[in-house]
Amino acid sequence: MAGNLILSGVLGAVVVAAALAGASAKSPGGDVVKITASTSAQDVFNKQCGVCHMAYPPVFLPARSWKAITGDLAHHFGEDASLDKATTKLIADYLMANAADRAPGVPSGVLRGIGPDDVPLRITDTPFWNSVHGNIPAAVLARPEIKTKSNCLGCHSGN
Ligand code: HEC
Ligand code: HEC
Repeated sequence: MAGNLILSGVLGAVVVAAALAGASAKSPGGDVVKITASTSAQDVFNKQCGVCHMAYPPVFLPARSWKAITGDLAHHFGEDASLDKATTKLIADYLMANAADRAPGVPSGVLRGIGPDDVPLRITDTPFWNSVHGNIPAAVLARPEIKTKSNCLGCHSGN
């Protein structure tokens, strides 16, 4: 399906077979980037939002979700992920411009089942994500290299 190909490109190939076999998973890089005039918004996002987990592809949530997430980084899933005002705005603008309802060519399936007033804060809470993944067995999530369904790179390669 064309839509899936587009999304595969966004996230990278599924390497779940390797993950299930217990091969070690890639972990996202963690250096905090120095922002210079030539640093692109995407670079800033990749570095700042890739410290604790992968920098999630913006295409999996609508712009209003990214607005809500970047609007309360001090209370971010139990963590303080706050950044200075200018960096937050740079990242928020980047995420919203590349969101499911803004970026060009996003398959409509990504937004399926998300009502106009719904503001999902997790990709893993969206009907699209759950329709693609079904029920991941607890035993798979318990694997040390996966741990949580939010750990996309536990099962997908990052390139
Ligand atoms: C200090 C660590 C930290 C930083 C920095 C951080 N996050 Fe998170 N983020 C978390 C934790 C913890 C979770 C919850 C993961 C889980 O449930 O397994 C999370 C979850 C998420 C989720 C939901 C994932 C899902 O289940 O679909 C999104 C979206 C997200 N973060 C976006 C961002 C963005 C955007 C940034 C950069 C502005 C960012 N995060 C920076 C710690 C962080
Ligand atoms: C426990 C393993 C696992 C985790 C964790 C996981 N996935 Fe997947 N994902 C899969 C499998 C298996 C498929 C189905 C592959 C197929 O049908 O070819 C899949 C399919 C997909 C697809 C549709 C096929 C494609 O590549 O276009 C997308 C998009 C996707 N995953 C995104 C994500 C995102 C985003 C995350 C993190 C928020 C994530 N996945 C976390 C295992 C996982």
